[in-house]
Order: sequence, then C-alpha cells, then structure tokens
Amino acid sequence: MNHILYEPTFFEKDDKILCIFGDKPFWIVGDKSLKPIVNFFLNDLSFDELQTILINDFKYSDKETKETIETIYLIFDSASLFSIQQDENYNPIDIDNNPPNPVINVTRRCNLKCSHCYADANNGQNASQELNTAELKRIIGLVMSWADSKHYDRRVLLSGGEPFIREDIMELIQYIADNNGEPFVNTNALLIKEEYMSALSKCKAELLVSLDGARESTHELIRGKNTFDPTIKKIRRLLEHGVITKLSITIHKDNLSELEEFIDLAVDLNVAQVAINPLNILSRAKDSQLQRVNLIEFYNTLSKISKKSSRHMYYVERSDYANVGAILLMNLKFQYCGVGSASLVIDYDGSVYPCYNTMISELKLGNIRYDNLDSLWKTSPLLKKLRKLNVNSFSADCQKCPVKYYCGGGCRGEAYFTNGSFISKCPYCSDMKTSIIDLMFQLSGQDNQMFQNRVHFFQEKQVFYGQRRLDSWAWSKNI
Ligand SMILES: C[S@@+](CC[C@H](N)C(=O)[O-])C[C@H]1O[C@@H](n2cnc3c(N)ncnc32)[C@H](O)[C@@H]1O
Ligand code: SF4
Ligand code: SF4
Repeated sequence: MNHILYEPTFFEKDDKILCIFGDKPFWIVGDKSLKPIVNFFLNDLSFDELQTILINDFKYSDKETKETIETIYLIFDSASLFSIQQDENYNPIDIDNNPPNPVINVTRRCNLKCSHCYADANNGQNASQELNTAELKRIIGLVMSWADSKHYDRRVLLSGGEPFIREDIMELIQYIADNNGEPFVNTNALLIKEEYMSALSKCKAELLVSLDGARESTHELIRGKNTFDPTIKKIRRLLEHGVITKLSITIHKDNLSELEEFIDLAVDLNVAQVAINPLNILSRAKDSQLQRVNLIEFYNTLSKISKKSSRHMYYVERSDYANVGAILLMNLKFQYCGVGSASLVIDYDGSVYPCYNTMISELKLGNIRYDNLDSLWKTSPLLKKLRKLNVNSFSADCQKCPVKYYCGGGCRGEAYFTNGSFISKCPYCSDMKTSIIDLMFQLSGQDNQMFQNRVHFFQEKQVFYGQRRLDSWAWSKNI
C-alpha cells in the first residue's frame, strides 16, 4: 500500500477536521473520521485498526468504509501525495523575456494629501524633476513595445501623484490612443476638466477613480475636506460622457462596514468595474491611524455582498482580493508576492523601482533617463535577488507554517518597510494564518462562487508569478 510522504497538520472546528499538507501544498476538510483515515495513509494505523475505529467510533458500515477509503485514496493520489515527483510538470517561466506591464508615475505632485498615500505625494515635490512630455512619450513607446513582444494588449498604466495635475496629460493620453495603445489612468478625478471629457471618451481611456467610502465622512477621513461630493460629480460626468470609469477603494478598519453601501453605489452608477484593495502599511499609512482589516472579516463581508445580485457578484469576483480564494481552490504553490518578477514602476523623475510598495531610494534599480529599461529588467542585481525570494526563507515560522504556500509570506515591500529586510516576517502574519485556515473551512462548505472567476483567470493564464502550478486540486465537504 502506498503511503503519504508529506507531514500533515490538523485543525479542528465544530464537527470538522482540516488537514493541511503544507509542503505540498494540499488541504482537505472532512468530518472527524478524516484524522484516522489520514493516519492510515501515513502508515500509522493498520487497515484492521482503521476499520475498527470507523465502525465503532463513527458508525461506518463495511460498504461505507470501503468506499470512503477508495475515494480518499483517489483524492490523495490525484494530489500526488504518494510521490515526491510533483514538480516534474513545473515549467519555470522565463522572467527575463516576460517583463511586466510597468506603472508609469507621471508626477508626484497632487491636489490632495491623503493620509494613506504610499507615494507620499504632495509633500514638497515640484515639477522641475519630472519627466517631460517627450521623455514620457519615449517611455510609453517602450512600454508598448514590451507589450507587443509578449503579444499582450498595449495597455499603458499612468498613475502618480495625480496625473491630471500635468498640463500635458491629455496629450499623453491621446498619444497612447493614437499609437494603438489603451490608456489606463489612476486618478482622484478632481482635476479632470469638462473639456477633457469627450476626448477621454473618444480615445477609450479607462479611468480608475479612487473613492474611499460610500459616504462623505468616510471618504474624507482619508482624502480631506470637500472631496466627496466633487468626486461623485466627476464620476457622474465621466459616465454621462461614456468614459470607461472604474472605482477603486482602499479598505481599512473604518470603511469595511460601508463596503456594501459602496458596491450598491457602484451598481447604481453602473461603473465598469470596482477595484477593492487592502491598505498597505507603509510610507504615510504607517504614520496614520488607519488600520488594516483582517482577511477573513473582509471575505465574510465580500461573500455577503456578492449574494445581493448578479451585478454585485460581478464586481466582487473581479477584485484582486479573490486571488487568495482561487489560490486555495487550485492548490497553487505561491512562493512569494512576485516583486521583481511581476511588477515594475517608472517613477515621475525616471527612477525605476521593483513595485509601488518599494519606492525608496535604496531600492532604486536605475533611471530611465540614463539606463536601458530592457537591460535593467534583465540584469539588475536587485531584481535577480528578489526573484529568488521564497517563503521558506522569511522566518523559521514561515518555513514550518502549514499555510506557507497559500500565504506566500505577504507583501515583501511592507516587510522591508517594517523591518528593513526582504526576508523578514510579514507584519500581519498571524492574520494571514488564521484567516487562511478559516477560509479553508468555509470553502469546504462549497461557498466559493465568488472565487471562480479568478480560478478561470489563473487557468487561462497558465502561469502565476512566484509559484509553481499543480494540476490537481480537490477539497472535500463530507467524507
Ligand atoms: C497613489 S494613488 C495615485 C493616483 C491618484 N492620485 C489616486 O489617488 O487615485 C494610486 C492608488 O493607490 C491607492 N493607495 C495609496 N496609498 C495606499 C496604501 N497605503 N495602501 C493601499 N492603497 C493605497 C490610492 O487610494 C489610489 O487608488
Ligand atoms: S492617494 Fe492619490 S490623491 Fe491621494 S495623495 Fe496620493 S496621489 Fe494624491
Ligand atoms: S507570514 Fe505567517 S502565515 Fe504567512 S507563511 Fe509566514 S508564518 Fe505562515
């Protein structure tokens, strides 16, 4: 008889048992008879001993005993728990030749001074160091040629600071559109002039407008006085002009309870999409009173909202927050957050950084004014170092953690900001651990509709940075 070659960790909740094989990774939830069955497959119980336990303690019939053991054998076999050759199908992606779609921060200036801003915008920066129009057009061309080399959409992401503070912003957006690109602008919307509206619509620009609450007091807690009504007015004007308008909300402890109202508002406005992002604790957010929400609280809120209507589901299931659920359902081996493999930022002064959570001088990769972007991506010693990050090296706790390959060790930028090291422990580790375990119990109740869209997305992509993909996935409600 084959036996399992991976160490299990058991958790108990109500009448259920969760068994995680952390090093694989694989997880399964069952009733309490799961534990002796796993012990049998570990060779810790003989068949006769197992049969006696199942019949006496769990009232299994002979037929049930046989069928259950056969079923579990098939599940464990399909999860490759009986062999250690599970990485045979692993095709590492050629990261050098798969650059990401960089974010271009066109300015660090801003009309607002939000309390959470990772860019620390509007803190004395001026226009003198900013890339000029010609420099930005060259960079936009480079970014589009990268997209061409990978046969991706020619999407160009502009952010900041506030992009619409630049006098030439419409010229840049038009330039992208005229060159068969897709302009995508992250904005607070307040500086969008009425005369820009029809041009934005004609060139099919996508605007991701930040709205940090459904009510004035919540939005303005982050964004400052007299910002809510004007933002809503701008969103309405954009929609009236047929501009592709999406909303972006940063979730923290004081606006989570308003998330349902926020999605109701999105449904009412009929925006194209909603981005729901966790608060990252770095830069200005670190000095603010804002607090991150627990992952599981967040999922419970989203799950409830997603059931309100098909439109609510549409918005919720497209949120990046659905990633963790999909990773659990697919048993993806998530080795780290992907900084340096899946992200890049070109900042307002031409500085290049690994991602927007690592925009500090000591982590600068080079400058687009003097360096070749392609060779920075291929040869930067820091990027090469980041690409080797692995949750097993983040702390002794991570190494033996049963959910390590589902967690991936958290955002490395936040770890660096908090502890000054890329291999330090994630600042919200205990939340990740308990939330992921709770989520496994919840998913075993088959309440996973809101993650299916992401599952399909990952399946289509066939690749997920920072992890290894396994073919098999399964979980069990009742064994
Ligand atoms: C830096 S802003 C630049 C674009 C524009 N000024 C705006 O606010 O939309 C880009 C996005 O990052 C979000 N953001 C800023 N600081 C953040 C943080 N600490 N954690 C998570 N998101 C943050 C903002 O809310 C905004 O949606
Ligand atoms: S989040 Fe956006 S609007 Fe707020 S200060 Fe930062 S750049 Fe400005
Ligand atoms: S950060 Fe915490 S939950 Fe995540 S892998 Fe490390 S120990 Fe586990």
